[in-house]
Amino acid sequence: MTFKTKACTFVICLVIFFSIQAVAEIDHIRFGSKNNPLQGVTITWRANHSCCNFKWGYTTDYENGPLPTIKGRIEFRRKNSYLFDYTFPDLEPSRTIHFALQECNKTTDCTQYTGQWTADYTFQTASGAEANKFTFIAGGDSRAEVFASKMPRWQAVSQALENTTADFYIFCGDLFFNGGSKKKCNSWFDYGKNFLSQKLIYFSVGNHERIGDPTLSNFLNQFTAPTNGNCTKLYYSFEYGNAAFIFLNTETTHSKKKFAEELEKQTEWLTEQLKKYRGPCSPNKKEWVIVSFHKPFFTVGSHQGEMTSKRLSIVPSYDYSKIWWKNLFDEYGVDVIINGHSHLYMRSVPILLKGTGPNEQDITFDKKGIPSKPVKEVQYGKEKNEGRLEIVTGGFGVKLLTEKKLKYKDQWYVARDKNCKPLTIMEFHYCTFNIDEKKLELIVRETECDTIIDQLTIQHK
Ligand SMILES: [Fe+2]
Repeated sequence: MTFKTKACTFVICLVIFFSIQAVAEIDHIRFGSKNNPLQGVTITWRANHSCCNFKWGYTTDYENGPLPTIKGRIEFRRKNSYLFDYTFPDLEPSRTIHFALQECNKTTDCTQYTGQWTADYTFQTASGAEANKFTFIAGGDSRAEVFASKMPRWQAVSQALENTTADFYIFCGDLFFNGGSKKKCNSWFDYGKNFLSQKLIYFSVGNHERIGDPTLSNFLNQFTAPTNGNCTKLYYSFEYGNAAFIFLNTETTHSKKKFAEELEKQTEWLTEQLKKYRGPCSPNKKEWVIVSFHKPFFTVGSHQGEMTSKRLSIVPSYDYSKIWWKNLFDEYGVDVIINGHSHLYMRSVPILLKGTGPNEQDITFDKKGIPSKPVKEVQYGKEKNEGRLEIVTGGFGVKLLTEKKLKYKDQWYVARDKNCKPLTIMEFHYCTFNIDEKKLELIVRETECDTIIDQLTIQHK
């Protein structure tokens, strides 16, 4: 190579380098909602500078925009990294939204120093639950860990989810391996980017979000959720079609003593919600009441007992029986509970603890938090003498449980498949719920070969 050629190559490299530097970077695009899947839908993204422009529309003309420049907030424990929110007005159902983003490439004077607009992004709005018919997909426990040279498993699962269609998604906790780690948080967004930038997700918080971030500041800073006037995004509800969705918090953001108080407050709030959706005189009753939170009351493996035993509870020696939500779930006929935390798929038999023990006593729990066996079996349903479906869905990418660690799998509360084997399945998976008026269909698919691993229909009377 001659000197002249070398010099030319060097200049070209410099030009490319500075061009790349000049292009502002926008990433970590995701959708949440302050209310239901059509009202309060909010897009959040990240950029290196403190202001951005946004335009959107139902066509590629982006008829709503560009909007006034949006100021960002500093991302948790980061320099030169900002988060931006835009809450859409009420959205039209079953439409495609087109949007594009533009970062200011100076920290001051957002009106002049703008970078390039991103390429066109799209987002499919929810159906509006027309005729009380809609779909949602649930799962949890991704963590975005990388093992050996394989593709991160959260990336593989998120690619499977990217090809699904649903009105919204429920992510029941343990997104990150370590909620306080920039690196772990970034890898969750990066590996899941195509899924996250296209789908609306409601979260419940997991114990891993507290690791390195005991006040959950990062989690609360990153995500949008309804607050229902409670000033907290950690427990909330929304209505959609003929269903009510209630998200609860099993983690503390304060001292353990304070958490006991928080739990009692949350339980009062939950009671109000259940009265609203299932109280005998309520004008706002719903056909389906679906509740999600991270730690299960009924599971297999080492996590069984964390919600039912004084010894294992998050607040040591705290008597959960004072606030046990399970009593409320019985009383108000909750239909479905969706949990994560244990790394597998597990389906429960219909759970009704009230009056199903010997002599019509309630089911009791031993010191390890193991429930005694009911003498009376019940059907899935919302009536007083019927039980709820409780599922554990912790298969979004975290290392799965092994057979060796499956203690309690033969407990009465674990449902059996058609071959009488316990429905404890160690596969990466997601759970699709199709609601059609009084019918709920659950289809669970593993993500590697896209095969159905469990299926169930519940029909209300
Ligand atoms: Fe967990």
